[in-house]
Amino acid sequence: MKNVPYSFVLRRLATILAIAILALSLLAAITGILLSFYYEPTAGGAYNSLKMIKFEIPNGWLIQRIHEIAGNGLIGVSLIEIVVMFLGEKFRPSWLTAWISGILLTLTAIALSWTAMLLDWTQVGYWRFQIELGTLEAIPIIGSLLRTILTGGGAVNTVTVAHLYTLHSYVLSIGALILAIIHLGGLLIQEKEEKQVLQETQANLSLSE
Ligand code: HEM
Repeated sequence: MKNVPYSFVLRRLATILAIAILALSLLAAITGILLSFYYEPTAGGAYNSLKMIKFEIPNGWLIQRIHEIAGNGLIGVSLIEIVVMFLGEKFRPSWLTAWISGILLTLTAIALSWTAMLLDWTQVGYWRFQIELGTLEAIPIIGSLLRTILTGGGAVNTVTVAHLYTLHSYVLSIGALILAIIHLGGLLIQEKEEKQVLQETQANLSLSE
């Protein structure tokens, strides 16, 4: 009986965090789409268009800031969610669905942040990307293939920005949204199952009295 409130708190916390995760994903996706109206995915053009978004477009800075906070917040909240779910583990299909989708979502959120590294086309982003590209290339067997996919086969240039932008704004962001929905769905089913178990236990108790 002593661990009932503890597991209840963890379960509720996981569900609340899943709602926050979905909200952050939606916010990042919406602000990302707004950014894409003015963003130019080319070398040089990326830097200039983001400068224009920040300083010339009305409320552009706000949209960019919200996108940054929602995107990075998503990584933080997903990591906390993994810890909360680990502590309240229940090896049922609903929990496992939420657990696996939660881990995949965290990895996707990190990949979204990683693919955004070059999207602002600043010196820091460019050189950081060059270093990380070297690390990726060192991976046996698939290393050079990964480099080719990301850069388009040549140096880091407009094609690379376009590839990262496509991965970021279409593949990964849609993946993150789908995973956030599955994650919340799994936890809501878990809530329903727990409620049923509680009701059955209460009914059995009142029968035995
Ligand atoms: C679930 C959806 C998304 C997430 C979690 C996400 C996350 C991020 C993150 C973490 C950054 C780096 C921000 C920073 O630290 O400066 C970023 C940048 C960016 N994202 Fe997204 N993003 C999402 C969807 C989109 C979509 C749909 C688009 C466009 C159609 C987009 C366009 C951009 C652009 C242009 C940047 C560069 C902005 C900058 O460096 O200031 N994002 N995103």
